[in-house]
Amino acid sequence: MVKTIGIVTSGGDAPGMNAAIRAVTRVAACRDVQMLGFERGWDGLLSNCYRKLTPRNVGGIIQTGGTILHTLRCPAFEQPQSIEVAAETLRQNNVDALVVIGGDGSFRGALELSKRSGVPMIGIPATIDNDVYGTDETIGFDTAVNTAVGAIDKIRDTAISHERIFIVEVMGRKRGFLALEVGICVGAEVILIPEKPLDTCDVIKIMEASSKKGKRAGIIVAAEGFGDSSKLTQEMQKQTSSEVRLSIVGYSQRGGSPTARSRLLASLFAEKAVNLICEGKGNLVVGLQNGVISSLDMEKSARGSKPLDLRLLQVAEMLSV
Ligand code: F6P
Repeated sequence: MVKTIGIVTSGGDAPGMNAAIRAVTRVAACRDVQMLGFERGWDGLLSNCYRKLTPRNVGGIIQTGGTILHTLRCPAFEQPQSIEVAAETLRQNNVDALVVIGGDGSFRGALELSKRSGVPMIGIPATIDNDVYGTDETIGFDTAVNTAVGAIDKIRDTAISHERIFIVEVMGRKRGFLALEVGICVGAEVILIPEKPLDTCDVIKIMEASSKKGKRAGIIVAAEGFGDSSKLTQEMQKQTSSEVRLSIVGYSQRGGSPTARSRLLASLFAEKAVNLICEGKGNLVVGLQNGVISSLDMEKSARGSKPLDLRLLQVAEMLSV
């Protein structure tokens, strides 16, 4: 019988992580399971630093960004000695299962820890990059899309006033999920993503064609993983008659109050995670697949590469005529 579940947030934070911590804690309480929240990502398992989570002390956080447990990137966790220390922490505290809220890197760490400790892991995908294999959407993605769209709508105003081209860089690590969705939602003239590289000449051609159609300003949304947006800005400035500016949306995409959608996803993923643990299952990642809350083998999720629907680029092109 499951008596104690540990929970940790790891890697880059994402809006909705708190909603997930709250929901896991409350569903666990409904099943008479106590919750230990490990602090500062994997570091909390290395230093045996945790706090007991109760339905009351996770109150008032569903609407907050960040993670009350804090998080960090923990390269030390890749070493076998560290994994053993973390495994000992789990044993010492009689942790029956661990919920890991994060991205694919966190799930790879979790798998190593499970191998060493025998403790089952359940992953809850939370990253603004939306790059976790096995789920159509991750916690925080929708919030980050909305944050970037809000920022770019304002940039569009000044772009129009000054008749300028703006290259706006959004996050997304090595993938273009965020840029693609943001690009469609702001009506970008060009979307630059790592999955479909374009060179400077291609971008200039598109912007010149756009200008010939009567557009006097333009927005180019570039995924950070696409390449050097500063270099692209300089090259476009030199090779065209337009004024070109670069704006990087940056870390604001990682913060802020989660949207209703991010909160809902967090709550449903959390409920599924606790249910799986109580059913005796482990080493799975919960996810949203075709509208259904489901789960996938953690190994598959951690190693898999999530496909990006490139048809969306064609839609974006048609919409920017
Ligand atoms: O994975 C989330 C993310 O914000 C990426 O979009 C970005 O590339 C990275 O984290 C930044 O990482 P750090 O917080 O370590 O600077």
